[in-house]
Amino acid sequence: MNKKILSLILGSIFMLTAVLTGCGGDNKAQKTENKVIRVACSADFAPFEFQEEGKTEYQGFDMDLIRAIGKEMNYKVEISNIGFDGLIPALEAGNIDLIISGMTINDERKNKVLFSDPYYESGLTIVVRANEDKIKGFTDLEGKKVAVQIGTTGSREAAKIKDCEVKNFNVISECFMELKAGGVDAVINDRPVNDYYLKRTNSEGVKPLNDKLTSENYGMAMRKDNKELQEKINAALKKLKDNGEYQKIYDKWFGVSK
Ligand code: ARG
Repeated sequence: MNKKILSLILGSIFMLTAVLTGCGGDNKAQKTENKVIRVACSADFAPFEFQEEGKTEYQGFDMDLIRAIGKEMNYKVEISNIGFDGLIPALEAGNIDLIISGMTINDERKNKVLFSDPYYESGLTIVVRANEDKIKGFTDLEGKKVAVQIGTTGSREAAKIKDCEVKNFNVISECFMELKAGGVDAVINDRPVNDYYLKRTNSEGVKPLNDKLTSENYGMAMRKDNKELQEKINAALKKLKDNGEYQKIYDKWFGVSK
């Protein structure tokens, strides 16, 4: 056998052993630890994403869901808080990998981001002052003053109402404050968030209306070129729906006892 072939065989054996033994194993362990998804939300949207006083961790349905998805994918989930209208720009700039923030899937956003499969069905409703008797639904908002969160579907719908003065606020709690203070006649916002606010927070002086304007689906958003992450997220979401984990998280935040 000539020397060249012999050294080639020996070389391959050496490399194969290196891959199969400790060295390769270590690399793998390191890789798993390195896998991080940088997630952002606008943590002002209970019960989907919020921070309870005195607590450092973000809480809510979205937060539990993305942590469970991360666990399923074997990725570490790092969550940061960014104002709602800054989320898509942060994603486009590459500062984050994924948005989960009660974000409605719509065509306008689809031009900029990739959405996961829908994970929650929502829609817009109105909150008015408790003593309000003229505004009974969306058609009564003509010529009225309405508070919305900047960059949301609520803001977009409010802008379509004839002669309506729309006041955009950074966070939804400011909208409710403005309503209570008499600065606006109504707040347009996502139904589950309105319901939760009225049940859990200081709902004195305000009431929800039943009229539902839209039917919307929430999706997680990723960069346009990140098909790989989208596939992994969808697979993990499906798994959690199939194995009952999604339902557990759902019941924790929206169950009858809540
Ligand atoms: N669903 C609405 C939208 O996509 C509102 C979402 C607001 N989310 C938040 N975390 N503040 O525009």
